[in-house]
Amino acid sequence: MVHQFETPLFTALKKHAEKNPIQFHIPGHKKGNGMDPEFREFIGENALSIDLINIAPLDDLHLPKGIIKQSQELAAEAFGADYTFFSVQGTSGAIMAMIMSVCEPGDKILVPRNVHKSIMSAIVFSGAVPIFIHPEVDAHFGISHGITPDLIERALVLHPDTKAVLVINPTYYGVSGDLRKIVKIAHSRNIPVLVDEAHGAHIHFHQELPLSAMEAGADLAATSVHKLGGSLTQSSILNLRGNIVSSKRVQSVLSMLTTTSTSYLLLASLDVARKSLATEGQALLEDTIRKAEKTRSKINQIDHIYCMGREVLESSAAVAMDPTKLLISVKELGITGYEVEKWLRNKFNIEVELSDLYNILCIVTAGDSEEDLMTLVQALSQLSREYKNQADENVDSSVLLPEIPLLALTPRDAFYEKTEVISFEQSAGRIIAEFVMVYPPGIPIFIPGEIITEDNILYTRKNIEAGLPVQGAEDDELNTIRVIKEHSIIK
Ligand SMILES: Cc1ncc(COP(=O)(O)O)c(C=O)c1O
Repeated sequence: MVHQFETPLFTALKKHAEKNPIQFHIPGHKKGNGMDPEFREFIGENALSIDLINIAPLDDLHLPKGIIKQSQELAAEAFGADYTFFSVQGTSGAIMAMIMSVCEPGDKILVPRNVHKSIMSAIVFSGAVPIFIHPEVDAHFGISHGITPDLIERALVLHPDTKAVLVINPTYYGVSGDLRKIVKIAHSRNIPVLVDEAHGAHIHFHQELPLSAMEAGADLAATSVHKLGGSLTQSSILNLRGNIVSSKRVQSVLSMLTTTSTSYLLLASLDVARKSLATEGQALLEDTIRKAEKTRSKINQIDHIYCMGREVLESSAAVAMDPTKLLISVKELGITGYEVEKWLRNKFNIEVELSDLYNILCIVTAGDSEEDLMTLVQALSQLSREYKNQADENVDSSVLLPEIPLLALTPRDAFYEKTEVISFEQSAGRIIAEFVMVYPPGIPIFIPGEIITEDNILYTRKNIEAGLPVQGAEDDELNTIRVIKEHSIIK
């Protein structure tokens, strides 16, 4: 355990910078001397002195043999993995590598439909065929939870030639299904389980948090250390366990997808985040959980506002939750989550993680002070008072949810088909060739290959009208949409 206090990569970078070498290599800013002075001063000399490149003493992420290898090995030990690969392209990059390491063109992969766009991109790139599993829907918050082991079992009976099962653990909102059981079902058929653990960098380090992918016995997990593990934005890891998936294959696919100019600032931040999680994560998370629980209970004393708690855990699609996520429903106030996001920004200088039609999401970490959390509680109390009258006027508290459209073509075939642009309003019944999603959370409303439905056009419009960021399509106002060209009948 003592060596978890060591930071081989960060320490070596600092020592290298202290030697102050004459640098005839990139980056051309040369310790900041050749860059804009205002930026240099703002960022600081220390950061610029370790913005380095893969010269021999500093190892190479593409073929790690020295300090990066040592740092990855420490991470593997800390996260309970056999191998850890660092990613400087976020969890999106790690997810693409994870799927492309396992799936060849035409291979079936079981995926929940509420996945992040990077999974769908990986499916397009790899040519894998998604078999969608319906996640369980929470009709109060208008969000999806996990998928049940029963549905996985049924899907594997229907598709015994499945090559991989993909699971989100936990979801953006902090809810996990029964991952251990899903792993057992998949492994009984020698099928690997790949986990999108973007929101679970911290869960391995405290017993009250959902089971981590590695603890549950999953084969691969892409984990955003930058989101909840304390490293710099864009730095993530890909963990591997067991021998169903080859570590050599993962290393080479990851390398194919990764820039050759890997940022040592990002890599060093993974090294120190791992140290902190391994050596003090338990204590920091204990404190964070208590702070978040206290805030949750105070929010739940405010009229017309409801913060999700363990009461949502009522099925095998929701067996555990991360209490550090505060998903706050504001629909009873008769305003959208997006309006609350703007209100909090303007009145209290508070920025939330995301908002949607009905909720806001705030994340709590060791970086939050009690004072900041109490400001959030005060702000929400004021919000409730300000919109009280509106709330009492019988607000419609039903939620509108996107339906899961039928997939007519594989996403890859749709992506490469001949297409045409038509009016979005009149596109129901056509096969879409683009993604449409609200970001965050980045879960597609439509993916290439799906048949456009009236309901999802309406759902998309509602989001645009509410001011939410609808992205993915070439026409960012969504007056038009790209669909698969229909061939005219030859007479
Ligand atoms: C569920 C989920 N998976 C994957 C990702 C991608 O992570 P990253 O931003 O690190 O690329 C995100 C990001 O929001 C996400 O929410």
